[in-house]
Amino acid sequence: MPLVSMRQLLDEASAKGYGVGAFNVNNMEQIQAIMEAARETRSPVIVQASRGARAYSQDRFLYHLMLAATEIYPEIPTVLHLDHGNSVETCKSAIEMGFTSVMMDGSLMPDGKTPSSFEYNVEATRTVVEMAHAKGVTVEGEIGCLGGIEDGHGAGLDGLSHLTDPDQAVEFVKLTGLDALAIAIGTSHGAYKFTKKPTGETLKMERLMEIHRRLPNVHLVMHGSSSVPQDLQDIINQYGGKLKPTWGVPVEEIQLGIRNGVRKVNVDTDNRLAITGAIRKVFSEKPEEFDPRSYLKPAREAMKKVVALRMTQFGQAGHAGDYAPISLTQMAERYAAEPVTV
Ligand code: 13P
Repeated sequence: MPLVSMRQLLDEASAKGYGVGAFNVNNMEQIQAIMEAARETRSPVIVQASRGARAYSQDRFLYHLMLAATEIYPEIPTVLHLDHGNSVETCKSAIEMGFTSVMMDGSLMPDGKTPSSFEYNVEATRTVVEMAHAKGVTVEGEIGCLGGIEDGHGAGLDGLSHLTDPDQAVEFVKLTGLDALAIAIGTSHGAYKFTKKPTGETLKMERLMEIHRRLPNVHLVMHGSSSVPQDLQDIINQYGGKLKPTWGVPVEEIQLGIRNGVRKVNVDTDNRLAITGAIRKVFSEKPEEFDPRSYLKPAREAMKKVVALRMTQFGQAGHAGDYAPISLTQMAERYAAEPVTV
């Protein structure tokens, strides 16, 4: 089946009460790992690329790899999503390239670092919604600021500095008409999220629940959702890495979020850790090897394992065959007929 809109996938997830992992990619092996995990677990899936990933892989390579994915895995409903678009222009180029969903991260200015004003965020997101919905493409926005930095994007703050204000979230959704809302509840991008295992107090789960109570029909997005598992850290350090002790978001907290309106769960770091550990192991155990396949195959397999486990934990496993794809043209007609209302 062709790439589908994220809106369709999240509506379906909402109706059945599960979450969908959104996994970041930069290259062929990562796309293959995700698609193999999706096939094995029969999961719909969101594949996402940041600006940095688009620059690294080059848009056309990325797009055609994703087309190959839809040919090779026709039974898997697959979304191609832009992660953290920094400007209207970036979102526009992604839509023109064939992304079926875009994130306009207007919580930061186009430099991707400076927290923006509410007015700027509304204006930029609203503009992208108009442009994207005319083509049936989904829009994710963000209110509040996540912690950390990802691919050079992020204010570099800790996750608690700019939490989402529920009143502002309600206003933001009403003024923009977006499809999915990323909220800041204390998570941050990258491996170094917490210095000890976080609890519902560290992560502001109460706030998430309040936002969901106030916006029951909006699909919430949890960024910075890697769990940074100890075993993946250990493999890296066992084979010469130098990761400092760190904790990520416990899967139980994500599952609590999913029971309270979270439909999209962003994971990048866990896959990076899995890949790096597998490559380090081969380099250490077989220093005579120089065929890239000797380390990229185990790296791909290690990432596939992490993704398959998350798909099961988030509840998307088993749902690939649930629904017929709605074309982007049909989605555009739907948006035109029924503007999104809160
Ligand atoms: P992690 O760094 O926790 O994997 O988060 C990734 C993310 O939120 C991508 O937008």
